[in-house]
Amino acid sequence: MNNKKSNLTSIAAVGKKMELGYDNNLVWRIPSDLGHFQKTTDGQYIFMGRKTFDSIPRVLENRKYLVLSKELKSGQYIIEKDNNRLATKDELKDPELKNKIVYVETFSSPDEFLEFARNIGEEIYIIGGSQIYSVLYGNTNRMILTEIDDDLQEADVHFPKFNKDDWTLERGEKQKDPESRKINVKNGKFEKCDVNYRINIYERI
Ligand SMILES: NC(=O)c1ccc[n+]([C@@H]2O[C@H](COP(=O)([O-])OP(=O)(O)OC[C@H]3O[C@@H](n4cnc5c(N)ncnc54)[C@H](OP(=O)(O)O)[C@@H]3O)[C@@H](O)[C@H]2O)c1
Repeated sequence: MNNKKSNLTSIAAVGKKMELGYDNNLVWRIPSDLGHFQKTTDGQYIFMGRKTFDSIPRVLENRKYLVLSKELKSGQYIIEKDNNRLATKDELKDPELKNKIVYVETFSSPDEFLEFARNIGEEIYIIGGSQIYSVLYGNTNRMILTEIDDDLQEADVHFPKFNKDDWTLERGEKQKDPESRKINVKNGKFEKCDVNYRINIYERI
């Protein structure tokens, strides 16, 4: 599966134990890191699993959505938390819904997606979640990981463990955002937290 020249970059924010999420939500919300995500993926293809697609609360504008799912069909989806659905003809004409509708191209297997990726040639950002990072790990050439100096025992999805010897590392500067928030597993709310993080870039050797 290893393909050194692939055009696939994984981008994720992880805790010390590679935590990615809890209860189909993020663990940390760090505005400056979200800004980095927005800037990096602006105008790009973003590839995600259906659960991550369901978990994104609003349309990420100016991005080309690619989703892996055995169920979803390609089409124009209205983004509604946990209930994304195909828009009707009337809804497509409704100006109030304009910012909630996005065109999604779907793939029913990783191989179908990999064929698309080879043909398209352009960089594609793999934005999660855990299942998708894992299934495409061997085909990924670059990983942009926001590594947060914190953990969450209750996390229920993780980034795949990887051997650092297989990658070169460009280590980012230590950063802190006073607006950082972390999920409270008791009530699902995000509360202020004090964490350091680095944005590290790994290139496959
Ligand atoms: N920290 C971060 O940077 C970050 C980034 C993204 C997501 N997350 C978190 O990750 C969690 C979601 O991740 P997840 O691993 O549970 O789900 P996921 O990877 O987002 O999506 C899983 C879905 O992808 C489809 N799928 C997976 N393998 C497939 C295959 N071989 N063939 C066809 N379809 C396949 C299936 O969709 P169907 O069921 O429709 O068939 C499956 O249910 C959430 O908590 C989210 O907040 C964190």
